[in-house]
Order: sequence, then structure tokens, then C-alpha cells
Amino acid sequence: MTQTSIIVTGGAGFIGANFVRQWIAHESATLINLDKLTYAGNPENLRPLKDSPAHVFAHGDIGNRELVRHLLERHGPRAIVHFAAESHVDRSVHGPTEFVQTNIVGTFALLEETRLWWEKHAPSKREEFRFVHVSTDEVFGSLGPNDPPFNESTPFAPNSPYAASKAAADHLVRAYHHTYGLPTLIVNCSNNYGPFQFPEKLIPLMILNAVDGKPLPVYGDGMYVRDWIHVEDHCEAIDAVLIGGKPGEVYNIGAENERPNLDVVHEILRHTGRDPSLIRYVPDRPGHDRRYAMNARKIREELGWKPRHGFERGLADTVTWYLQNQTWCQRVRSSAYRDYYERQYGARLRQQGGDAT
Ligand code: NAD
Ligand code: TYD
Repeated sequence: MTQTSIIVTGGAGFIGANFVRQWIAHESATLINLDKLTYAGNPENLRPLKDSPAHVFAHGDIGNRELVRHLLERHGPRAIVHFAAESHVDRSVHGPTEFVQTNIVGTFALLEETRLWWEKHAPSKREEFRFVHVSTDEVFGSLGPNDPPFNESTPFAPNSPYAASKAAADHLVRAYHHTYGLPTLIVNCSNNYGPFQFPEKLIPLMILNAVDGKPLPVYGDGMYVRDWIHVEDHCEAIDAVLIGGKPGEVYNIGAENERPNLDVVHEILRHTGRDPSLIRYVPDRPGHDRRYAMNARKIREELGWKPRHGFERGLADTVTWYLQNQTWCQRVRSSAYRDYYERQYGARLRQQGGDAT
């Protein structure tokens, strides 16, 4: 066992792929990427690594305990960074089953196999090991307009099946540290944006629709607030936690970029040279959280991390990325994507007297 490799789960998705690419660019250790390749997992995101000996792709489910056991025994990682999840709130409203299966049962399977493997090692090796669980600000629920941002002690109050499944996973990860001593760390991050994000989430969906001159479906009054962070800043924060974080601790990650959705949509219209008449106010998401905001003082002060990307520039660069990667955009909008789009937006847009296409 070399103890130099790491296992990443969900490394073919949006944040995972950015993390994997960043890791391979800077580190010599082998990275084993365990991904089920759901609709959100895309090998295209990892194309430049196709022939890299530093990247080992393992196609499979985190809930497959035999596979997880095999990977642990074969590669003897010094850390696991756990991104794999069902990640979209709207999908969790339509069908929560997969969210419970992957985010809760899958995380449990990964933790349990990791613990059984980890317990076989000598204390010094056990101490060095790290399990970083990548979670979300959505576990904390919704803020009022004048509430202070979420901190690491804010009580959990998840409101969507997605948020509830992530909160459950966070509790399991915490319990594995407190009960068994597994060196786990949890990061809770705000909304990410940047290259490779699947166009079901606000920013890429609005960019691609604007480019195509299609309606931009804004939920409710559009005054819901999200706190945006560039995906590369999130990945660097995870790296900082992996290197310097204290086992058992939670770190909130955010970049202090609170924006109402409508402001973001108008910025995208400006960057794509489209007219605001494309905006359609559509019926709201059920249980829609009004505002998220993160207090990231702990990671800034204790680990010296800070974001590098400003939101205005980061968003402009993201628009450029989607414009320059049209083949990627066309491929991800497969027939399965069109089915999803019709289910999520068809009736909503038609209700506004508009064309859903
Ligand atoms: P994503 O949906 O783009 O990617 C998820 C990846 O996990 C995909 O590659 C998918 O194939 C894989 N996957 C799903 N189920 C799996 C399973 N059972 N076994 C193995 N692989 C599986 O998600 P993302 O936006 O990159 O988010 C990654 C993580 O970060 C998630 O845990 C999410 O909750 C968390 N997070 C996301 C955001 C955000 O704004 N996107 C913010 C904070 C935290
Ligand atoms: P989303 O990207 O789904 O992230 P999350 O719900 O996890 O924060 O949505 C971000 C915000 O944008 C949220 O307030 C919902 C809103 N939204 C729309 O108004 N229209 C859309 O088509 C989508 C996908 C999101």
C-alpha cells in the first residue's frame, strides 16, 4: 500500500470534474475517480485526462460495497473526497427516491466500507487518513432578509428532499467521527458556478437559453437570493481542508456574493446581448428557500483560504466558456435532457402563454 493515492467520488460531475482536473494539474498522487455516470456525470468533462496514468476511472455506484471495498484494498488511499450525489432540488421534488438512495444510503455504504478498511491499519496510518464530505448550505434552510449568514453552528433546517438527504449524510459523517474516530471533515458550500455545470441549474440554463433566444424561466418573483462562488474557489477550499483541516470539524465555504436571481439573469442577458423580454415569470418551485448566505470566516481565518474570483468577472468568463464549448453544450442536451426540460418547464412556460421550446 503506497498511501499516496486519493479516491474521489462523483468526479465526472460539475464540481468533481473541476476538482479532479485541478488536482491532476498540481499533484503527483494517483486519483481514483469512482462515478456512476448518471445523467449528471459526463466523461467529456475529463477528456484531457483520458491517457493520464495519474487518473484511474472506476465506473460504479458508491452504494456498491464490494466495489468500494475492492478500490480501498487495491489503492490504499490516504484520503477520500466525497462529491457523488444527486444534486438538483427540482429533480428531488419530482422524485426523491434516488436522493435518499445515493445521498443517504450511498454515503452510509461508503462510510461503512471505509471504516472497516481503515480500522485494519496501524494507529499512525489511521491518524493520517482523511474523509472529506462535500455538502451544501441548503442543510441550514432559508434566511430572512436581515438574518446573519449561516455559520458552522447554525441548526439544520432542510426544506427540500435534496437538502434533507444531504443533511442526513452530514449527520452520518459526523457520527462516524464521534463514534469510531474516523477522521472525517465536512464542507458546506454555497451555490457554485463555472465551467462544466449541467444546464439544469440556474446559471448554465439561463446562459444556454439566452444564447438560443429561448424564454428564461424565472421562478416566482425572481427575488430569491443565492450566494455565488466560482467552482475553482470551492475546489481550492476543499484542498485547503484536505491539507490543514481538523478531523471532526465543519467548514462553511462561501465568497460573499449574494445576488437576487433576477440580477444574475439580467447580467447573463447583458453578456449574451439578449433582450430582457426573454424573461418569463413562471410558477414557483414548491418549498423554495428565499435566501442563502454563508459566513466563511472560519476557513478564512483557520486555513488561510480565500476566493480568487469576483462574481462579475467570473460570470462573464463562464458565459464565454459556454459560448466556446458549443459541442459540449449540444451533447449534454440529449433527448433525456429534453424530456427533463419538458417535464420541468413545459407546462410552466405554456401557462405564461409562451412557447416552451
Ligand atoms: P453533479 O450533479 O454535477 O454531479 C454529481 C456526480 O455524482 C455525477 O458525476 C454523477 O454521475 C455522480 N453520482 C451520482 N450518483 C452516484 C452514485 N450513486 N455513485 C457514484 N457516483 C454517483 O453535482 P455537483 O454540482 O458537482 O455537486 C457535487 C457535490 O457538491 C454534491 O455532493 C453536492 O451536494 C455538493 N454541492 C453542490 C453545490 C452546487 O452548487 N452545485 C453546492 C454545494 C455543495
Ligand atoms: P439552482 O441553480 O437550482 O440552485 P439551488 O436551488 O440549489 O439554489 O437555483 C438557483 C436559484 O434560481 C433558485 O432560487 C431557483 C432559481 N431558478 C429559477 O428561477 N429558474 C430556473 O429555471 C432554475 C433552474 C432556478
